[in-house]
Amino acid sequence: MAVGANQVPSVAVTEIYLDYNATTPILPEVAEAMEPFLKNEFGNPSSVHPPGRRVRKAVEEAREQVARLLNANPSEIFFTSGATESNNTALLGATLFAGRFSGHILTSQIEHPSVIGPCRFLESKGFRVDYLPVDRTCRIDPEQAAEMVTDETILVSVMLANNETGTVQPIAEMSRRIKEKRPEVLIHTDAVQAPGKIAVDVQELGVDLLSLSAHKFYGPKGIGALWVRSGVSLAPILYGGHQEKGLRSGTENVIGIVGMGKAAEIAVRDLDQVSQHLWNLRKRFLRILDELPMTRLSGHRQWTIPSTANLCLLGADGLAVQANLAQRGICVSVGSACSSGSLKPSPVLRAMGLSEMAAFCSVRFSWGRLTTESEIDQVVEAVKEITTILRAVTLPDEIGVCDENCPCFFEGAGLS
Ligand SMILES: Cc1ncc(COP(=O)(O)O)c(C=O)c1O
Repeated sequence: MAVGANQVPSVAVTEIYLDYNATTPILPEVAEAMEPFLKNEFGNPSSVHPPGRRVRKAVEEAREQVARLLNANPSEIFFTSGATESNNTALLGATLFAGRFSGHILTSQIEHPSVIGPCRFLESKGFRVDYLPVDRTCRIDPEQAAEMVTDETILVSVMLANNETGTVQPIAEMSRRIKEKRPEVLIHTDAVQAPGKIAVDVQELGVDLLSLSAHKFYGPKGIGALWVRSGVSLAPILYGGHQEKGLRSGTENVIGIVGMGKAAEIAVRDLDQVSQHLWNLRKRFLRILDELPMTRLSGHRQWTIPSTANLCLLGADGLAVQANLAQRGICVSVGSACSSGSLKPSPVLRAMGLSEMAAFCSVRFSWGRLTTESEIDQVVEAVKEITTILRAVTLPDEIGVCDENCPCFFEGAGLS
C-alpha cells in the first residue's frame, strides 16, 4: 500500500510515475497549508502593518519547520528559489562574490549541473577546481577528498545523495577528515535528494552549507533553501531589498515558503514509515536483477537512498526503453542528454566507469511514497518484456553471455 495514497489524486489514472527524483506531487496537506496565501493572505512580509505581520509569522514558522528537518537553528535557514540558486549562492558567495579572485575548490565528478556549472564558471575566472572521482558504486573516497584539500582550498562541495544512482556519499567522514586537516575550509553539500528518504542532520554531517529544493519532497516548485552554519559568512549573489538578512534579496515567495515548511514537517513526521515503504519497493524492484540477464544495478546496494535504482539493461537502448515504457503509461528517465545536437551519455555513469554503450543502455527508476507494490510489479514485467524485444533486435546472439564483470559494462575508469 502506498503511504497516504488515499489522500492524493493521481496525476492520471493510467500512468505509473516512477520519476520521483525529477519531481514529486504536492501533498494535499501541503496544498491546504498554501491555500490561504493564494487567496486572502497576500501581504508582503516586509510590511509592518497587520497583513504583512501575519505573513511574516507564516514565513518564520516555515523557517522553523525547515530547520527541524535538518536539526538546525531557524536563523541559519535562507529561502531561495530552489537548489540551483542555493548551490550557486554557496559556490559563488564563498568565492568570487566574496571578493576573491583565485583559490581552490574541490567538488566531485557526479555533481548536479547546478554545482558543476558554477565550478566551470569559477575556473574561467581563475579559480582551480578539482573533480573527485567515484568508484563503481558511485562513491567518493573521503580519504582522497581530504588529501586533495590544499592550503588554497576555499570550499569543498560534494552532494549527499546522487540524483541518478541514489548513492549516498560518506559526507560525515569526509567532513571530519577535511576539518581535521584544515578547519577553515567550508564544506557544502547538495542534499536535494535526501529529505523524506533518509535522515538529514547537519550536525552529524559536519558541513557548513546545505542546499534543498521543496519539490523533491512533496512541496511546490520554485522554492528552496540554503542552510548556512551560524558564524559562516557568505556574500550575496543578488542585490536588492536586503530580504533574508541580505543574503537573498527579493520579496519572499510566501506561498512557496509556507508549502516548503509544511512539506518539511511531513518529511520529518513520516520518515520512518515512508522510508520503510521505499526500501520494500526497492527490494521488490531489484528482483529484476535475477529475472533479466545482462542487467546490472549502477549504484551502491546499501549506501543509497531507498527510492532509486539505475539499471543498465545491456543491449537495450535506454531511450528506446523509456519510449516503450511511456507508451504503456510508465514514466521513467534516462541520464543521457542531447547537447549541441548530439546525444551525450550520462557523465555520472561515465564517472563510475560504465562504458559509453553501458551508459546509453541505462534507465533510472525512482519511486515515492505514493507508489504501490502492484505498480512496481507492472513496471518490472514491462521492463523485462521491452528489454527482451529490444535485445532480440540488437543483440541476437549475445544474450546471456555477459555477466556483470564483463568489459561491456565497465571501461575501468572508476576507482576500483
Ligand atoms: C541533486 C540535485 N541538485 C540540484 C537540483 C536542482 O534543483 P532545482 O531544479 O529545484 O533548482 C536537482 C534537481 O534535479 C538535483 O537533483
